[in-house]
Amino acid sequence: MPNAAMTQDELKAQVGRAALDHVVRGEIVGVGTGSTVNKFIEALATIRDQIKGAVSSSEASTQRLKALGIPVFDSNEVDELAAYIDGADEIDGRGYMVKGGGAALTREKIVAAQSRRFVCIADASKRVEVLGRFPLPVEVIPMAARRVARQFAAEGGTATLRMKDGQPLVTDNGQHILDVTGLSIREPLAFESEVNQWPGVVTVGVFAHQKASLCLLATPEGVQTLRY
Ligand code: 5RP
Repeated sequence: MPNAAMTQDELKAQVGRAALDHVVRGEIVGVGTGSTVNKFIEALATIRDQIKGAVSSSEASTQRLKALGIPVFDSNEVDELAAYIDGADEIDGRGYMVKGGGAALTREKIVAAQSRRFVCIADASKRVEVLGRFPLPVEVIPMAARRVARQFAAEGGTATLRMKDGQPLVTDNGQHILDVTGLSIREPLAFESEVNQWPGVVTVGVFAHQKASLCLLATPEGVQTLRY
């Protein structure tokens, strides 16, 4: 029965629980970052005795996992993960995503790259036709920020340095984030490859080479499974 009264928080909790079906028991699971993943981490704690632990994509997720008694492994201790569970800021009809709203995009891409399957968990507001509505996060080495911003301007984008408490936000990797508006990313694979070549770019928040294998999309009618 559709439940139009569900809040976004309830939708996130619903999809966080649904992701447990994609956690391979007896193995280590890759864990992303963000408010939807926080719901997943709460659900994961209920089966913590059935998994070896997690590889985490951020200091924030690591703290939450540890607080709930889930062992956290360094990504270098693990060759391959069966599944990586993470949210997205946008996902299109091909499973290409924009990520990095939580500033964890570089570690997210690293853990995604060591995982056989990327299970995206999102509420229906994240589904878009063309990537670019959400300001595109780009992690940059601080000395390159202005130059990278000018390079985006040449492509029609407007880049803004992300701030926190009046200072440039510093990522878990000691770098800065540019948020770029005004883009319409119709060729995500080519765009990701190009921007990643720009000197000073650590990671662009387009996840096309590490796209979702499937998306669990929370809607008031229930969780839809979209496969790519
Ligand atoms: C963090 C991310 C998140 O997955 C993305 O921002 C979605 O977050 P939320 O679940 O809070 O909407 O990429 O860097």
